[in-house]
Amino acid sequence: GKTLVVTGVSSGIGADVARLASFHGAKVIGIDRNEPSLTLDGFIQLDLTDIHAIDKAVTSLPVGIDGLCNIAGVPGTASIELVSRVNYLGLRHLSQSILPKMNDGAAIVNVSSILGRDWPERLEAHKALASQATFQDGVNWLEAHPVPQETCYQYFKEALIVWSTEKAFAWFRDHGVRLNCVAPGPVFTPILGDFVSMLGEERVQEDAARMKRPAYSDEVAEVIAFLCSDAARWVCGANIPVDGGLESTYL
Ligand code: NAI
Repeated sequence: GKTLVVTGVSSGIGADVARLASFHGAKVIGIDRNEPSLTLDGFIQLDLTDIHAIDKAVTSLPVGIDGLCNIAGVPGTASIELVSRVNYLGLRHLSQSILPKMNDGAAIVNVSSILGRDWPERLEAHKALASQATFQDGVNWLEAHPVPQETCYQYFKEALIVWSTEKAFAWFRDHGVRLNCVAPGPVFTPILGDFVSMLGEERVQEDAARMKRPAYSDEVAEVIAFLCSDAARWVCGANIPVDGGLESTYL
């Protein structure tokens, strides 16, 4: 079986990915700041804003990792510092650090969002941020190019899509590691309620009217599991919407 590292494993989409991967015979090593509710093959409790904790965790991981699912995330109701570090800079740092321990043919899957779909409007900024090689370079760049609190969630999901797309080919060519994103629309998880405070009741109602319903978290987990599997061995650099068609209604 494969060995997968799953962040955000203690809730929502991450917990479902762990459940599904275990069911299919994978060994799952979870990462989260909270204790998981299911039994895993390994669990590392850490805060993904803490790069020293990330480095320590990566040192403790075995070589021969087949997949990294970067699922942990915080909503835009959290501080900009937290959103930038958990949803983007810490995710990047973990991915870069784990890369030397990954097998040829391994996969990294990042959870972006339908709220990252306007990335082309800020492409130059996102490319500039993507070119900041280290966590600290990213922090410094963001100090010089501040992001408004109201749109920071969208901003760092956009940045994640651009970074993933930009790194995808080189990582596949040089390491045999595929890098992809899934972009969920609204999902029934504990953070769904935070999107109402983030986007406003009106916007959320507008989206609700365009949708049959929010996703169940296992419907997103299935696509993440597919991207980790050998069935997706030629899928690289994609950002796959998993939103029941919501994005298609913005045409
Ligand atoms: P969730 O709140 O159920 O799970 C998030 C997990 O990340 C939690 O277990 C939490 O402890 C962990 N986490 C948060 N900050 C952390 C930190 N600093 N260090 C370590 N772990 C941390 O949320 P959900 O919905 O499962 O979210 C997963 C991903 O899906 C997130 O990246 C989110 O932005 C994204 N997403 C969610 C949508 C939704 O409607 N629920 C829609 C689109 C994207």
